[in-house]
Amino acid sequence: MFKIQLFFFKIIFTIFKIGYPFGIMKWANEKTYLEIYKKVLNKNYPEIENHEEKLKKKIDINWLNKLALQTQVVIKKSSINYQHGRILYTELCNYIQNSSVKKIVIFETGTARGFSSVCMSKAITDSNITGEINTIDILPNNKKIYWNSISDNTGKKTRPELLEYWNEYIQRINFHSGDSEEIIKNLDLERINFAFLDGSHNKKKVTQEFDWVEKRQLKNDVIIFDDYDPQNFKGIFEFVNNLEKENSYKILKIFSENSRGYAIAYKL
Ligand SMILES: C[S@@+](CC[C@H](N)C(=O)[O-])C[C@H]1O[C@@H](n2cnc3c(N)ncnc32)[C@H](O)[C@@H]1O
Repeated sequence: MFKIQLFFFKIIFTIFKIGYPFGIMKWANEKTYLEIYKKVLNKNYPEIENHEEKLKKKIDINWLNKLALQTQVVIKKSSINYQHGRILYTELCNYIQNSSVKKIVIFETGTARGFSSVCMSKAITDSNITGEINTIDILPNNKKIYWNSISDNTGKKTRPELLEYWNEYIQRINFHSGDSEEIIKNLDLERINFAFLDGSHNKKKVTQEFDWVEKRQLKNDVIIFDDYDPQNFKGIFEFVNNLEKENSYKILKIFSENSRGYAIAYKL
């Protein structure tokens, strides 16, 4: 009898959660998020620092940490690691400095809470250039939801509300809600200077996204893949290794931790 009641409760709970990807209740209180955050602040990432020194571009760490507290510090089993924000900023500033384009067009899959988009937007602002960021996620943009974030303590929010403090950076971001496979069918971008693929980590989807981006890129344009990791994201790992053999992009691999790699692909 108890098992039937439990099963019934689970069904009701699941139905209520439809449309609320991070659930219908707050995950934790403010203190818990702050404790997680403080632990992350003590970590060092030598490979990332070396890369920043090599390219002589470095994001303001205090700015990054503040954004991360709102958009990266979440309750999850895997470790909190937002070093991709540093790589995106450094690579994008470097691209802009070495390019003659007047307007930079960016494509991203996997917006989540907006962290990576806002980091790329800061690179555009700090480089004094105009630009637009087109980012896709199956998550809603304008629906008030809990985000499994410290911000949940002041109630459900839309994504723009979650990012209110970074309002100046979200002005140039076009948030698209839906499956990347469907959204790109109607997305009219002629050229993509810089792309960050961090949506579905499934090989078929990444291949579709890459093929779509590649057609819109010229020499020296960039695609960054997050989660280049043979253990947890075999699809991305294999895709990048195959791409490397094709010699259409030069690939640089960087690791912040053993199981967190990034592949930076420069069009040849
Ligand atoms: C790892 S998170 C992205 C993290 C984000 N780039 C950041 O820096 O915070 C992956 C995101 O991809 C989204 N996603 C997964 N499959 C997708 C698909 N087929 N189309 C669009 N978004 C997808 C998920 O909803 C999730 O928010």
